[in-house]
Amino acid sequence: MTAGEPQDVAAGHVAPSAHLLVTGGAGFIGSELVRQVLGRRDGTRITVLDKLTYAGNRANLAPVEADPELASRFTFVRGDIADAGVVGPLVAEADAVVNVAAETHVDRSILDPEAFLRTGVLGVHVLLEAVRREAGRAAGGERARAPRFLQVSTDEVYGDIPDGHSVETDPFEPRSPYAAAKASSELLVRAYRITYGLDLVTTRGSNTYGPYQHPEKLIPLFTTNALAGEPLPMYGDGMQVRDWLHVADHAAGIDFVLRHGEAGEAYNVAGARLLPNREVISRLLDATGRDWSIVRTVPDRPGHDRRYAMDGAKLAALGWRPAHNFEDGLPETVAWYRAHPDWVAGAKSGDWDSYYARQYGDRLAAGRAVDPVPAAD
Ligand code: NAD
Ligand code: TYD
Repeated sequence: MTAGEPQDVAAGHVAPSAHLLVTGGAGFIGSELVRQVLGRRDGTRITVLDKLTYAGNRANLAPVEADPELASRFTFVRGDIADAGVVGPLVAEADAVVNVAAETHVDRSILDPEAFLRTGVLGVHVLLEAVRREAGRAAGGERARAPRFLQVSTDEVYGDIPDGHSVETDPFEPRSPYAAAKASSELLVRAYRITYGLDLVTTRGSNTYGPYQHPEKLIPLFTTNALAGEPLPMYGDGMQVRDWLHVADHAAGIDFVLRHGEAGEAYNVAGARLLPNREVISRLLDATGRDWSIVRTVPDRPGHDRRYAMDGAKLAALGWRPAHNFEDGLPETVAWYRAHPDWVAGAKSGDWDSYYARQYGDRLAAGRAVDPVPAAD
């Protein structure tokens, strides 16, 4: 909603036609959220603030910019969430802030943790301070109400889960610099909620897959390498378990919590599709027409979490659950990468070759062939 209009809080915390500030909106999940919300054509306006790191890509927003009606409700600002001079005026104009921005790759966090802390701690602090200032302006009658703030977090804050499913009240036990930065962001959000009473909510999504994902992550890396006939570097025994969530569902879950989540609460956005990496690889080989001869078992990621699994009951009780299934979603995702070689070439440019050599050079040199496993039905 815009300043001065009434808002029906009982019907939802953010009106359908709100002005949203989406940080990190040129990335994988952020751009899906932007495309999805603007695509509803309900009058919502979105400003994206994105630093355009190696992971940010304006091409992910091309479908928005190519549609005149969507483009008329969309603004792009290149900048850093840790830059208070940029953030302040943007938060002042927003009815809600969705913080999707983060450094997101566990392997890069092991190589170079600093950027993760800069964005996850200092950046989130700058955003929260801007929200706090706007809450003060709302209290002083200078705007209708304070902006709602949604922090996009991850199941990785719970750490390794050998059995069962994480619920929202479980303790944080992060085990990688990435997960520690995400847990730190959440702790700041919690402190600002308790101390200042701000309207803050959090989502914890599980491993996400789909179109426009940077090829450093498992599914797009193995898909694009398989399509090119290059080796697939499977860490260790490949029996690590992840809970796969389609990006359209992850974005829809964030949007739902933004509109209906209770202030101060965190919500698991679970994929409900637990699979060991070997099973994912087997299905990717089927979808790309390759076999196990291109898969190499390589030295494992240090501190590699063996299993993530979340319970999605809290969000289901609020009225939302995922709609996509992995059986269709994975081959559709492979088809998208096959149909977008220019996008893949763009994503595998810049620092890609040096990153790939650093992450995989020695590993692939030490890699060994893998015994095929049958695909489960
Ligand atoms: P991504 O790496 O594809 O995109 C991150 C975006 O943030 C990029 O556009 C990048 O340019 C931008 N960014 C990074 N630092 C910034 C800064 N300081 N200021 C402004 N912009 C900055 O990431 P993603 O996979 O889309 O993940 C988005 C969010 O979802 C992250 O917070 C991540 O922790 C969370 N998440 C991701 C997954 C997953 O499987 N991908 C799962 C659960 C949660
Ligand atoms: P990733 O996509 O990096 O997500 P996360 O570490 O956040 O779960 O990895 C998913 C799983 O795939 C994880 O168990 C690590 C494994 N993996 C590999 O075996 N090889 C790879 O080259 C990559 C990138 C991941």
